Amino acid sequence: SSRQFFVGGNFKMNGTIDTIKDIVKHLNDAKTDPNTEVVIAPPALYLLLTREHLRPGLEVAAQNVFDKPNGAFTGEISVAQLKDSNITWTLLGHSERRVILQESDQFVASKTKTAIDGGIGVILCCGETLEQREAEKTVEVVTSQLSAVAKQVSDWSKIVVAYEPIWAIGTGKVASTAQAQEVHAAIRKWMGKELGEEAAKKTRVIYGGSVSEKNCRDLAKEEDIDGFLVGGASLKPAFVDIINAKA
Ligand code: G3H
Repeated sequence: SSRQFFVGGNFKMNGTIDTIKDIVKHLNDAKTDPNTEVVIAPPALYLLLTREHLRPGLEVAAQNVFDKPNGAFTGEISVAQLKDSNITWTLLGHSERRVILQESDQFVASKTKTAIDGGIGVILCCGETLEQREAEKTVEVVTSQLSAVAKQVSDWSKIVVAYEPIWAIGTGKVASTAQAQEVHAAIRKWMGKELGEEAAKKTRVIYGGSVSEKNCRDLAKEEDIDGFLVGGASLKPAFVDIINAKA
């Protein structure tokens, strides 16, 4: 497809100054596919360190951002502060934040709007629980998470959708290529209907959930899988093999 392959690394709440410097050095020295867009998301405390050391061409994402420009919001970080630090992307709507921090679809949508209006890219996560999958509610759940965003944001050119089935995150239980492709195709169909054919054709839909150097190549062959959001494996040297899944 004409969509540029996109691989994100979500470090979650992992790493230290030393281990993050090691990961960055390994990436800097690696031969990475020039056709893959690479973005890594360390914990907020290490964003500046990562940006300072990471080679140009590889981008840095926050794991979250707030939906207000500044002020009395203890513990939060603004879009302007990210931009000031050359952080060009943010994750939003990760299931760990939706579930553990109880973020609503509305809140995720509001933060996505603020990020897009402020000119940074958003890796927008969506995904169903095992219970919802077994009740055959997967597409309904995912498209309603995305619909909340579509109500507030019309320009999706700086959004990358990450489909992450919750049952596949950190479990070693990856979705089959067919299971992933089926949901990615449904997301693209939803985009065509709600955002227009142009957005459906151009918006990257990446897969996350136990992606490894072993399963990435098969997943990458699917028509509607435009890359990956990698958790655990993004902390390991094997992350480079995932970046190069299409090479
Ligand atoms: O954001 C990344 C995902 O939650 C996937 O995590 O690769 O450790 O399963 P994982």
